[in-house]
Amino acid sequence: MIKNEQPIGVYDSGVGGLSVLCEARKRLPHENFIYYGDSENAPYGTKTEDEIKELSLACGEFLFRKGVKMIVIACNTATSIVVQTMRERYNIPIISIEPAVKPALEGSRNGKIIVLATPATLHQKRYQSLLERLGAQDATINVECASLANLIEKGDLDDPHIKAYIHDKLVAYRGQQIEGIVIGCTHYSFVADKIRDIASKIFPSFGDIYDGRYGTARHIARVLANENLLHGCNAGGRVELFTSGKDDSLAVYRHFLSLL
Ligand code: DGL
Repeated sequence: MIKNEQPIGVYDSGVGGLSVLCEARKRLPHENFIYYGDSENAPYGTKTEDEIKELSLACGEFLFRKGVKMIVIACNTATSIVVQTMRERYNIPIISIEPAVKPALEGSRNGKIIVLATPATLHQKRYQSLLERLGAQDATINVECASLANLIEKGDLDDPHIKAYIHDKLVAYRGQQIEGIVIGCTHYSFVADKIRDIASKIFPSFGDIYDGRYGTARHIARVLANENLLHGCNAGGRVELFTSGKDDSLAVYRHFLSLL
């Protein structure tokens, strides 16, 4: 029997999923959360599917053993590889994030959309099927960012390599009518402003950034309400942070949690 007071478990390969946690906390201030970042093994986005599956299932197991009432896979890279197995394994709701391609298409007129994500996400069948389902293959440009999550994971968002990396990735499409950018990796939410600034300078047609963390937070709230699992209104609001990485990564986690 799941109890309403149990915490919500959220995980990612590292700091990225904190962007989802920030949004979920705003929407659900009375919920308790447990966050697990697998910083010891980050990044996931350049690993094989088998490696990602094994690591990701271990994250889920960690949270389940902590007694969570819901697991949120706050990692686009892990979503399609483990979501099914986790749903079969655990009798609690499993929520996952995916790149916000649909809202980006809806927000653009005739131009193109750039999807920034890890190589693993962009190569997965689930992502390709999403594009097919939306008829979005011609409208989207998939841009693999093999090193960006790792740069962000280091914790220094003012590192000039981050801006340079984003610029290099986007400038290759100068001259195209780019109207939107999808942040297809939860780590990138922490540099959304930088992406927006750089994109606005390169693409005169640029409109907006689309980030799946908002839809995921809405979905968490919806599922809790539908399953009668919402926490009561007079307590809660706690967040516990755990990492497989070094203890000092928790200081970085706390800092990132205060950013969004
Ligand atoms: N934050 C993750 C995502 O949403 C993965 C980044 C990584 O570990 O490569 O895809």
